[in-house]
Amino acid sequence: MASRLLLTYFFAITPTLVVSQQCELQFDGRVPSNFAAATFNSENGIFDPNNVFGQGFRRAELIIASNDGTDASTTGVKTLHFSVMKDANRPLNLTHEYQLVFLESNDFSTNQFVLKTGTILGANTVDPDTLQLFGNVDANPAQTLFSAPFAEDVFHNFAVTLDFDTLTTQVFYSQGADPLIAQTEALANDVSGQGQFHFGVLKKGLDGGDDIVKDGEQEPGIDEGVIFGGIFEEDSFAGCISLSA
Ligand SMILES: *[C@@H]1O[C@H](CO)[C@@H](O)[C@H](O)[C@H]1NC(C)=O
Repeated sequence: MASRLLLTYFFAITPTLVVSQQCELQFDGRVPSNFAAATFNSENGIFDPNNVFGQGFRRAELIIASNDGTDASTTGVKTLHFSVMKDANRPLNLTHEYQLVFLESNDFSTNQFVLKTGTILGANTVDPDTLQLFGNVDANPAQTLFSAPFAEDVFHNFAVTLDFDTLTTQVFYSQGADPLIAQTEALANDVSGQGQFHFGVLKKGLDGGDDIVKDGEQEPGIDEGVIFGGIFEEDSFAGCISLSA
């Protein structure tokens, strides 16, 4: 069987949950219900059809079409929303480290924040079945901004307020249809460098030598995936943020 990393986009986020949206949107990755899976492969105005597929390592990601690395999604004060759920039919192998959501700087030198799960390389992971949101990975070690058990059968909703002027990050979180609740204050975190937001599954190899993502050991014949929903970014100028899930 060919190895497969699948990223399922969840269409049926209850529409009433987004009605209270009031802040101006920077981008909207919530695909319409008539959006066929194949549409992700052609110009669709929502996600870039050309990014990102794995080469040398296991990677399947979505990038917002308008997010070219120097656009306004990484200026001012913006709040990124996304929800993730386990795909019960395609479990991840928690012996490995996975990156699910991250901002990669425009010069590709760092990730200003990154949501990970599994066994984090070079760290002591107490429970790999955890969603861990780290700050800029250039800090050594990277700051853990927030973590929560990666419970099954429920969406984990995140909102991450990124202040690109004062260089802070604030985390909001909830499960299911619950409203988002602030989990942190605005924490000092270097979010400079603009870049692109990645949503998907990046599976790191084991025992990888210098370039862990490209050289590491990977199992053949995998069928793994994660379910995403509710991807959008709003302008949090003057503190605007929508807290409905
Ligand atoms: C998980 O990954 C490890 C390391 O690649 C591998 O040895 C093991 O067989 C995998 N487990 C499953 C259930 O695929």
